[in-house]
Amino acid sequence: MTKIQAAITGVNGWVPPYRLTNAELETMIDTSDEWITTRTGIKERRILKGEKMGTSVIGTHAVKGLLEKTKTKPEEIDLLICATVTPDMQYPATANIISENCGIKNALSFDMNAACSGFLFALNTAAKYVESGGYKKVIVVGADKMSSIVDYTDRATCVIFGDGGAAVMLEPNTEGYGIVNALLHVDGSGMQYLHQVAGGSAMPPSHETIDNKLHYVHQEGQSVFKFAVTNMADVAAAIMEKNNLKSDDVAWLVPHQANLRIIDATARRMGLNTDKVMINIQRYGNTTNGTLPLCLWEWEDKLKKGDNIVLTAFGGGFTWGAMYLKWAYDGDKVAK
Ligand code: ACO
Repeated sequence: MTKIQAAITGVNGWVPPYRLTNAELETMIDTSDEWITTRTGIKERRILKGEKMGTSVIGTHAVKGLLEKTKTKPEEIDLLICATVTPDMQYPATANIISENCGIKNALSFDMNAACSGFLFALNTAAKYVESGGYKKVIVVGADKMSSIVDYTDRATCVIFGDGGAAVMLEPNTEGYGIVNALLHVDGSGMQYLHQVAGGSAMPPSHETIDNKLHYVHQEGQSVFKFAVTNMADVAAAIMEKNNLKSDDVAWLVPHQANLRIIDATARRMGLNTDKVMINIQRYGNTTNGTLPLCLWEWEDKLKKGDNIVLTAFGGGFTWGAMYLKWAYDGDKVAK
């Protein structure tokens, strides 16, 4: 029997127009462009403004554009997975809201939460559906409105995060292109260093949780940094070894955009020059589930059929992983 692989056949991103620059942050908190740039690499991030504007707004823009770009009718979609840590509401799934907004009526849809590794975990899950042979057109959208859970008086976290997202189309491929394999890991003991304390069933919203700012991202930056820098580099090296890839074989590294220093360490460990590394953290900051697909979207026209691509991420949970895929089309031939 011919082996079915899940290949990415289109990508589309969307970021809100408002740019929150380091200069503006200097007017809000005790920080400097110099500190933010040297510690993180970030210059500006996008913020979704407006009443009742949730993550589904970002996801809907990304998915509508993807359907147009790939000339796909909404009713052709079999499955849509949304990776997010900032769903519009506890339920229903933001994936369902995006599907409804886009006219996707015949699809199974659900959300996945693996913090900053969510897109990678969702892509791997979606690939299994495609490989089963029963799902022909599957969308994975990674999107977050991080500004909804960031405390803009906490200088250690508010400079890092931004809003945005992107979506990819997955289709079956029997010519050797698409997702080859992935290494995904979880260590629940890392929860203490990075989590949102209140708002779930363990600590529902109350006056007290709001007064104590427990609905915001709680991050012990240095501890997270140490885990992230080691684990992202290790798992990226491990996926190369698993697939007998040498540095020269890798066309592109697509790393989670949490901190430029973590990205640099991962690229060094893989023996890659920075010209093979997708980096847009300076423009968007950490959009959590948006980072990986936003990179694929921005680099699409440079991607060639057959390119060996490694994606890697690290996030709260702790969760981390890497994926190896063979790109399935020439990006410069895609009509814009
Ligand atoms: N401006 C100026 N000074 C600041 C700022 C700021 N914005 N933020 C912190 N500082 C100060 C601190 O108060 C501290 O001052 P002190 O020495 O007087 O106490 C000093 O800078 C150093 O603080 P650190 O926290 O040690 O700074 P660090 O170099 O670790 O950088 C950062 C902080 C950027 C958060 C870094 O730790 C990091 O990137 N961590 C990893 C983030 C990550 O990968 N997260 C996972 C994904 S996110 C997700 O899953 C949702």
